Amino acid sequence: MTSKILLLPGDGIGPEVVAAASTVLRAVASRFGHHFELTEAIIGAAALRQGLPPLPDATLAAARSADAILLGAVGDPEFDRGPSSGRPEAALLGVRKALGLYANLRPARTYKGLETAGPLKPEVLAGTDMLVVRELTGGLYYGEPRGIEADGSAAYNTMRYSKMEIERIARHAFEAARGRRRRVTSVDKANVLETSRLWRSVVTEVAAGYADVALDHMLVDSCAMRIAFAPASFDVIVTENMFGDILSDEAGAIVGSLGLLPSASLGEGTGLFEPVHGSAPDIAGRNVANPLGAIASAAMLLRHALKLETEARAIETAVERTLQDGVRTVDLAQGGASVGTREMGQAVVGRL
Ligand code: NAD
Ligand code: IPM
Ligand code: MN
Repeated sequence: MTSKILLLPGDGIGPEVVAAASTVLRAVASRFGHHFELTEAIIGAAALRQGLPPLPDATLAAARSADAILLGAVGDPEFDRGPSSGRPEAALLGVRKALGLYANLRPARTYKGLETAGPLKPEVLAGTDMLVVRELTGGLYYGEPRGIEADGSAAYNTMRYSKMEIERIARHAFEAARGRRRRVTSVDKANVLETSRLWRSVVTEVAAGYADVALDHMLVDSCAMRIAFAPASFDVIVTENMFGDILSDEAGAIVGSLGLLPSASLGEGTGLFEPVHGSAPDIAGRNVANPLGAIASAAMLLRHALKLETEARAIETAVERTLQDGVRTVDLAQGGASVGTREMGQAVVGRL
């Protein structure tokens, strides 16, 4: 059977990390006797530079008809001015919404060999293995009205959540917890925000259907503190769009590098898989970016979109071995020897 995988390399380090991840996918295909049809389309600043919108119609059509999408990153300082709709980032928000990808899974865990790569003491980091379940198609990112007053004197966004949006992401989190350590922490700002009070009450209602999963609620400021202070105390974190964006970057930093973190965006249409990091213009084009987040996203793609659990595990095990063997990109090297993006991809392929 042929699986159609759409590659959306995007901007900055996106093309570099997607190239490394697609090398790994090709190696998995030949190792396990699958046929992956890998095609590419443009998105973000790459599209804007050709005079197209950030999410061209042809790209969205290709996304709809694919079995899975692997995206690098979008974002380019050249397009950091002007209205939201003309920025590279609009492509990402557009594709998530168009495909109904409301559930964003962002796992963050420690790796053997990386105990001292991050800013935390190894004994604080030990045992960290969390999954941030981020609501992805609601909240401040999409709420209307939004805008800037014509005279530039003020700007506004709207935080809005419906019961339905909260229920479905909560169910996703509880289901995920059943395959893990059966604990859900729901993160909100219920001491201040009405949306958060609704969030808290709906999550509590959904929890009644999951008696085997423990639920607690935490305010987002306190959660941010606790991720730095006691990261191993978390299993599944479920939270709204913006809080999830912020907390997942923090989770990346504490496990050693944002470059390690993968994600899966799931919902109604084709699943989209992408590293949590951005286009990193400060290091783009130099073959120094860490491709492991993109490679681990390819593993999530195999697991969630193509239902190839053994193959997904094979990639994850190869990543673990690569790190155990001391292979490091510069973000993980702590001043020691490092390899480039391509070489890191090859190191993983060599351990498949
Ligand atoms: P960023 O995630 O691109 O980079 C933050 C820092 O982490 C930088 O110092 C960067 O060099 C480093 N970094 C990120 N990924 C790395 C990797 N794989 N290996 C080594 N180091 C890595 O965030 P930013 O600089 O705030 O944003 C840059 C652009 O990316 C902006 O235009 C932003 O909108 C966009 N962005 C896109 C996505 C996405 O496409 N999913 C996510 C976040 C940011
Ligand atoms: C992410 C990014 C995006 C987000 C931006 C680029 C729109 O930061 O995927 O984490 O905020 O969702
Ligand atoms: Mn982000």
